[in-house]
Amino acid sequence: MLNREILDTLRGLLERARRDGDPEPGAMNVATVGKDGRISARMVLLKQVDERGLTFFTDYRSEKAEAIAAHPQIALTLHWKHLKPAAQVRVEGMAEKLGAEESDAYFSTRARLAQLGAWASEQSRTLPSRELLERRVGEREREFEGGEVPRPPHWGGYRVIPDVVEFWYAHQHRLNERVRWDLIAGEWKKRLLYP
Ligand SMILES: Cc1cc2nc3c(=O)[nH]c(=O)nc-3n(C[C@H](O)[C@H](O)[C@H](O)COP(=O)(O)O)c2cc1C
Repeated sequence: MLNREILDTLRGLLERARRDGDPEPGAMNVATVGKDGRISARMVLLKQVDERGLTFFTDYRSEKAEAIAAHPQIALTLHWKHLKPAAQVRVEGMAEKLGAEESDAYFSTRARLAQLGAWASEQSRTLPSRELLERRVGEREREFEGGEVPRPPHWGGYRVIPDVVEFWYAHQHRLNERVRWDLIAGEWKKRLLYP
């Protein structure tokens, strides 16, 4: 569980970035460790933050999902370079699949074409041609014509349950400010780190 201070700080940064005109304030890097110990990283969109953790959505058959199944411990980074001061948030924690109801609720808010895309795509698998992807979207369009598009069983959310959170703020002469939170025996402990 995130404490009130961590949650308010994170939400405050996201809100300031949004007000500053950042088109994707929730863009975040997700680093995972694969079954073979190999590290990989990619961007996803942060969709929800509450005391339980940080949520993103993806294909449960993707490379990142396979890595999470092998090693649920993952790391996230967010960065807002236009904020004054520029800021970074680092998060480490365990990723857990969301329940079906939570994933359904978010899926129903997605644009219809994005919903069809979730059915048509086999994220991270080899795609022989763009035409095939377009054909597969067309097939799903016809299949669900005139009705709602249900969530594919292979698509849903993860919640990252943090045990480390660091807020980083740019200061002059690289004397940056680092505020590090560690969850120790169920309690969040705060300290500063040298830059
Ligand atoms: C800004 C940005 C946001 C993205 N958001 C998502 C997302 O929310 N979910 C997702 O599955 N992929 C998202 N992607 C695509 C991923 O970076 C990645 O290509 C895809 O998830 C496949 O990754 P994988 O093969 O490591 O599983 C995003 C890419 C960018 C650049």
